[in-house]
Amino acid sequence: SPSLSDLAAAKGIRFGSAVAGQGGGSWRNPALADLLKRECSILVAENEMKWQAIRPSPTAFDFAAFDDIARFAGQTKMALRGHTLLWHRSKWMPRWLEKHDFGPQPATAAARLMANHVETVCARYNGKITSFDVVNETVLPEDGILAQTALSKAMGSTEALVDLAFHTARMAAPGVELVYNDYMSWEPGNALHRMGVLRLLEGFRKRGTPVDALGIQSHLIAPVPDAAYQREWRRFVDEVVAMDYRLVITEFDVRDRDLPVDIPSRDRTVADTAKAYFETMLDYPQLRDVLAWGMVDAYSWLQGYEPRADKAEARGCLYDSHFRPKPVYAALAQAFVEA
Ligand code: G3I
Repeated sequence: SPSLSDLAAAKGIRFGSAVAGQGGGSWRNPALADLLKRECSILVAENEMKWQAIRPSPTAFDFAAFDDIARFAGQTKMALRGHTLLWHRSKWMPRWLEKHDFGPQPATAAARLMANHVETVCARYNGKITSFDVVNETVLPEDGILAQTALSKAMGSTEALVDLAFHTARMAAPGVELVYNDYMSWEPGNALHRMGVLRLLEGFRKRGTPVDALGIQSHLIAPVPDAAYQREWRRFVDEVVAMDYRLVITEFDVRDRDLPVDIPSRDRTVADTAKAYFETMLDYPQLRDVLAWGMVDAYSWLQGYEPRADKAEARGCLYDSHFRPKPVYAALAQAFVEA
C-alpha cells in the first residue's frame, strides 16, 4: 500500500518526521530507519541542532550528532529541515548563555553572537537544509507578549534579536524557507497565545523582516475541541495566510493524557482528533510540508512529559510501540487522499 509520503506527494505535499540522534527513536535503530525510509520524504532533528546540543561554550560548535542525521538524510534522499537557530526561552538556552558576560557593549556583543551562530550553521548546511525554524517559541502563551532572555536583554529588545536572526539567515542561506515556529493551537485557552503570534507576524511584515512561513507545531490535545474553537482556529489561520505566510505543520502528535485508558477507544479519539484537524489544515494550499514529531509511541517525548496518573503509555504517534500503524495513521492517510 502507498506510504504517507506517496499519498501526500500526490497532493503536492511532503510528509516527514523528527528523528533523534540516539536511542530507539534514532536513525541508528534499524527498524526505525526502515520505517522512516518507507514513510517519509523529509526529516528534522528532534534535538541535535539546538543551542544546547551544538554550543558547548561561547566559542565552540559541536556538529557531530547533527552531522550523523544529515548524513542519514542524504543517503536516503530525504529533505532536511533545521530546528532551531534560536529557541528564545531561557529554559531552553544553554546554561552558559544565561550567565554570559556581554561586556561593556552588550548590544553589539549579543548581535555578534547571534549573527555568528546563524551564519555558521547556515553556511555548514548550505544546499542541504531546505527550511529553517529560525526562531522557535518566543511568544509567551499566558499573555501573548514576547519572551525576554539574557540574549534579548543584552540586545535591548526581543524584536531586534528575532529580526536579526531572520535577516542573517536570509543572507547566509538565500533561497531557503525561513519559519517562525510556535505551538499555539486550537484548544480552549490558547487565544492570547494566538493573538501574540499574529502581532509578531504583523510586525515582521511592517518591518520587512524576511519570514516565509508560520510553523504550526500541532501538538494536539484530544479530543476534538467544539465547533466554536474550530471556527476560531480557522479565523487565526485565515489571518496568517492573509498576511502572505506559508504554513508548515512542524511537530504533529496527539496528547491522549486526558482520555479514558481503554486503548481501542483512546486510539479512536486520537484518530478523530487528527482527522478533524487535517481536514481543516489541508484546505489551505499554503500548507506544503507536514512533519510528525516522531513516528513511534515508545520513543515520543510525550512518554516523559506530564505522564498519565495511571502510568499508561501515551499513544500519540502514528505507530504503536510494536511498529504497527494505528487508527490515527489511517486517519492521516485518508486526509491526504481526500485533500
Ligand atoms: O541527551 C541527554 C542525555 O545525555 C542526558 O543524560 C539527559 C538528562 O536529562 O538529557 C538528555 O537530553 C534530553 C533530550 O531531550 C534528549 O532526550 C533533555 O534533557 C530534554 O530536555 C530534551 O527534551 C526535548 C525538548 O524538546 C527540549 O529540548 C525533547 O526530546 C524534544 O522532543 C522537545 O521538542 C520540542 C521542540 O523542540 C519544540 N516544540 C515542542 C517540542 C516538544 O516539547
